[in-house]
Amino acid sequence: MGEEIPDEIDLKETVQQGKEEQMNQQMERIKSNMEKIKHKLVIISGKGGVGKTTVAVNLAMSLASVGEKVGILDVDITGPNVTKMLGVSNDLKPRVDPDKKSFYPVNGPMNIKVLSMSFLTQDTDTPVIWRGPMKMGAVRQFLGDAQWGELDYLVIDLPPGTSDETLDILQLIPEENIIIVSTPQEVALLDARKTIRMAQIMERNVLGIIENMSGFACPHCDKHIDLYPPGGAEKASNDFDVPLLGKIPFEIEVSQQGDAGLPFVLKYPDSESTKAFKIAVNSIKKHLS
Ligand SMILES: Nc1ncnc2c1ncn2[C@@H]1O[C@H](COP(=O)(O)OP(=O)(O)OP(=O)(O)O)[C@@H](O)[C@H]1O
Ligand SMILES: [Mg+2]
Repeated sequence: MGEEIPDEIDLKETVQQGKEEQMNQQMERIKSNMEKIKHKLVIISGKGGVGKTTVAVNLAMSLASVGEKVGILDVDITGPNVTKMLGVSNDLKPRVDPDKKSFYPVNGPMNIKVLSMSFLTQDTDTPVIWRGPMKMGAVRQFLGDAQWGELDYLVIDLPPGTSDETLDILQLIPEENIIIVSTPQEVALLDARKTIRMAQIMERNVLGIIENMSGFACPHCDKHIDLYPPGGAEKASNDFDVPLLGKIPFEIEVSQQGDAGLPFVLKYPDSESTKAFKIAVNSIKKHLS
């Protein structure tokens, strides 16, 4: 007599179990990878174009300049700008270790470890058109399969708003700290307030707000000019009981340097923005200790 063959094999269930198993293993890898990083700083905003990437890159540089071990992860899949602003060539590719099924971030300026979707695209003009599950797969691999090693800080730059990547990052990273970037504009602040609320509903730790493009020093008379009515970030900070970590002024050189690919804080060590980033770094460190 041969082995008894069951009438019906539930393949669907078997495949589902396999997938769940894989997901669980990946979650474990993410957890152990992230545990080796002391502080995870997630940079988000409600509105686009308020300076998240600028803030992420310059915070990373400011932290590295005071001797911290820093990594930066760019999960803005459709418009990854971190490498350009850091001056890291897109031609560099993360080194892959086939045995460990993992890969290594690229070494950027001041030894900052860099991973960005832009390393995986062909050229700077070609957008990545990925659907939900593929995008999520990429984000999870960046967190779980990349060899970040031991770091003091991992700065994570996100796309604007409440995208899938943002929600995924908020759910996947244990003990992360959220930094909300806003400009003083009313519409930006309205969206920033929603984002703070979302993070609080998800019971995530909001470390604080950074106000960017916070006024402008007139190059002729040096007088401070408010580009928008001031006080909105202070009000949001009070209303939601989260600290205001810093205010970065609008400086023409900031945008020029972003385009040229050398972070502002290195090129202009004595500028008002560099000082403002230093103040922000100090208050981040104070709130984390
Ligand atoms: N403090 C500043 N002074 C002058 N220009 C700035 C400042 N902050 C940001 N910029 C400029 O504003 C533009 C948008 O900044 P950035 O790309 O950092 O915003 P973002 O929030 O990351 O945008 P997105 O939502 O598209 O990811 C860039 O050209 C940048 O150089
Ligand atoms: Mg950006």
